[in-house]
Amino acid sequence: MAASHLTVVSHPLVQHKMALLRDVNTPTREFRQLVGEIATLLAYEATRTLETEPIPVRTPLEMMEGRRIPGDRIVLVPILRAGLGMVDAVAALFPNAGVGHIGLYRNEETLEPVSYYFKIPPLGSDKVYLVLDPMLATGGSASAAIAKLKESGATNLRLISLVAAPAGVDRMKRDHPDVPVYVAALDRQLNEHGYIVPGLGDAGDRLFGTQ
Ligand code: PRP
Ligand code: URA
Repeated sequence: MAASHLTVVSHPLVQHKMALLRDVNTPTREFRQLVGEIATLLAYEATRTLETEPIPVRTPLEMMEGRRIPGDRIVLVPILRAGLGMVDAVAALFPNAGVGHIGLYRNEETLEPVSYYFKIPPLGSDKVYLVLDPMLATGGSASAAIAKLKESGATNLRLISLVAAPAGVDRMKRDHPDVPVYVAALDRQLNEHGYIVPGLGDAGDRLFGTQ
């Protein structure tokens, strides 16, 4: 399904890997690997509209004009902690990307995001910021992270998440209608603790083996 604001990447590979990722019996090592693999597939889709520039290439037979993505165009911004699980895989696609970090955790009772860290590479008007967080639940964390990036001057942003709840998508659409959202799955709802159901549980805990 594709819409201007939300794109659910429903490629069979994504669906296959998401089923493995969601499985409660998937161990930490495999979970980490799957998060990276799915992030790669989502990043491919999220960067489909990136501008390229011409570059001369000499093949073994003749000169031709190739295209390239300018090396410093992309900035990856994981939301700590769980977004860290997506960084290495996406950075493998964009080896010259800068990486910013935004530290946020959800207060377990209010579900409001609490900010504890913010560090991003120097701004540039042509930079594209890929915000990475596996879970878009209430949308509070993603919305706050993107608001901070905008306050710092970022204008071209995209959010990549593995699983979204309708509430999170609505929140993003309301707060940041200019930021396209790419997800592997749009789940049914949030439960009374603000967890996405069916979801995959606590992404940070499953990535890092914490409880
Ligand atoms: C999780 C997740 C998102 C946030 C989503 O992080 O990684 O950042 O919750 O929820 P929201 O859409 O309702 O804000 P968490 O707060 O558990 O922190 P952690 O990654 O450090 O475990
Ligand atoms: N954070 C998670 O890690 N999982 C959820 O389902 C919701 C927020």
